[in-house]
Amino acid sequence: MTRNRLEGALRRTLPDARIEVVSLPRCGTLRLGLINADYQTGPLDPDVMQAVIRSPAYWAFCWGSGLALARFLLEQPQWVRGRTVVDLGSGSGIAGIAAAMAGARRVVACDTDPDARLASAENAALNRVDLEVSDRLSGRWDVLLMADVLYDRSNLPLLGLAQTHARTVLVADSRVTDLPDPGYREIDRIEALTLPNLGEFDEYRTAHLFHWQRADDQPD
Ligand SMILES: C[S@@+](CC[C@H](N)C(=O)[O-])C[C@H]1O[C@@H](n2cnc3c(N)ncnc32)[C@H](O)[C@@H]1O
Repeated sequence: MTRNRLEGALRRTLPDARIEVVSLPRCGTLRLGLINADYQTGPLDPDVMQAVIRSPAYWAFCWGSGLALARFLLEQPQWVRGRTVVDLGSGSGIAGIAAAMAGARRVVACDTDPDARLASAENAALNRVDLEVSDRLSGRWDVLLMADVLYDRSNLPLLGLAQTHARTVLVADSRVTDLPDPGYREIDRIEALTLPNLGEFDEYRTAHLFHWQRADDQPD
């Protein structure tokens, strides 16, 4: 992993931040390069605040929902083993990397943010797994993963779009507890905190895991 490239991307918005490589709790050997845990929590300089608003470095955190989905896949690899997987809104790459470690045949991390694509690729290299990156969702996939992407309600149409690109969709979200699409069924609730700890409200410490499956797609 070339930590310098990620740190350069982070410092475009947060000039005094660093990238630290951390092990993730209950995720086996999975490690990620994330923003330093002791990064200041006080008010930001107004110029820095503007830069953060313009271009938030979501990829520098491992969001609770991504961590929950990673744990789920590592504990139940049959969901992705031997399958093609796309991680939509990959951020750090957490869910896609877990899928690759769980034995997925091919994994693509898809994110609209070029720095997130860089982070996903660098973190995949750190974990010695193969992962491709893409700036848009295209093609047909066995499994589509989506963790903590619905915080932006304008992303809700992704729930339907996902069904046109994949046979199985797994959505993990701690902010959205009820999906507007009745085709999605809640299959699990997993406790997980965002890393580094953002001190989120208790209600956001549980990721809800939803599953949609095309009628002709039977699990192994
Ligand atoms: C809160 S982060 C979650 C990252 C990661 N999945 C995790 O759980 O740690 C949301 C990510 O989704 C990406 N994103 C938001 N809207 C998107 C869209 N319409 N298509 C692809 N990526 C999107 C953002 O750039 C960001 O990297």
